[in-house]
Amino acid sequence: MPTLLFISPHDHAAAWIDALRAQVPDLTYRVWPDCPDPADVVYALAWRPPPGVLAGLPNLEVIFSLGAGVDAMLEDPTLPNLPLVRMVDYGLTEGMTEYVCQQVLYWHRGAGDFQEHQRRRDWHKPQELKLARERRVGVLGLGVLGADAATVLKALRFDVAGWSRTPKTLPGIETFHGEEGLRTLLSGAEILVCLLPLTSETEGLLDAELFAALPRGAVVINAARGQHLVEEDLIPALDSGQLAGASLDVFHAEPLPRDHPFWTHPRIVVTPHIASLTQPRTAVGSIADGIRRHRAGEPLINLVDRARGY
Ligand code: NAP
Ligand code: GLV
Repeated sequence: MPTLLFISPHDHAAAWIDALRAQVPDLTYRVWPDCPDPADVVYALAWRPPPGVLAGLPNLEVIFSLGAGVDAMLEDPTLPNLPLVRMVDYGLTEGMTEYVCQQVLYWHRGAGDFQEHQRRRDWHKPQELKLARERRVGVLGLGVLGADAATVLKALRFDVAGWSRTPKTLPGIETFHGEEGLRTLLSGAEILVCLLPLTSETEGLLDAELFAALPRGAVVINAARGQHLVEEDLIPALDSGQLAGASLDVFHAEPLPRDHPFWTHPRIVVTPHIASLTQPRTAVGSIADGIRRHRAGEPLINLVDRARGY
């Protein structure tokens, strides 16, 4: 019987299998490492599978990623050269947009400062508050997640600009691409949001040089991958005042080590890689649709381009 192998030690496998079985009843489901007949496995649904596991499935036909980002999977030198479908799910997109808006509004409205004033019982009332339309937000990455976040920020009246590898058009949003475009975007971005995939081109992009290209007092929000940020460059940029704050959802080491200075820095908001979650109740439909397409001989969608790295 054709089998789907679920490979994600930290996910709630039973919830995924129940949701999948309801939509695709005529498959056998197994949860790695319980796989007595690897030759039966046709589909793998995986998040950070241990290197070599997928290569041990001789009749595998399609790999579905539980995550939007496939950087960790592409690092496995034994990854079979098969169609790799990344996660595109309305729940993942909406969750990310909520996180981005929450963090942008937090810094835009000075929420951290007011919390601090409250702790001191300090009725600190500024004379002026900027409106969203007066605040330039730059979004790095205008893919599924970046485009949605940029569009909703625009609907909140922020002055939004976006950057992508290839030219893009989004209503009401100023768009840039390439090296030159990045410099222009950075020069105006008071709040910078990173929603890029992690590739050899984007790794370490958020470094001291990039911070220096932002207006003084800018804020950086990284919800993409920890390796986009050169971690040792962040605190000096905050302490010098070049950056006013940072919201970080992703880190080089996850969980973030308990002694990491980011935990306690007053200008850093830390969240535990929860900007968005792939959840079975919303995401199972896109996997079921991928299986249906594959069985019907239709082209798969949301395929990763391995040469591009995303
Ligand atoms: P996507 O649809 O593939 O979009 C990627 C965007 O980045 C595209 O606009 C692409 O440009 C742009 N890009 C790629 N390389 C670039 C480069 N060298 N220079 C400029 N732009 C570049 O990806 P997505 O679904 O939006 O997801 C983005 C990332 O979010 C994922 O890879 C993952 O790492 C992260 N993520 C994090 C969480 C979390 O909870 N923290 C959750 C989900 C995803 P083109 O449009 O020209 O191709
Ligand atoms: C989460 O980080 C994802 O890539 O979906």
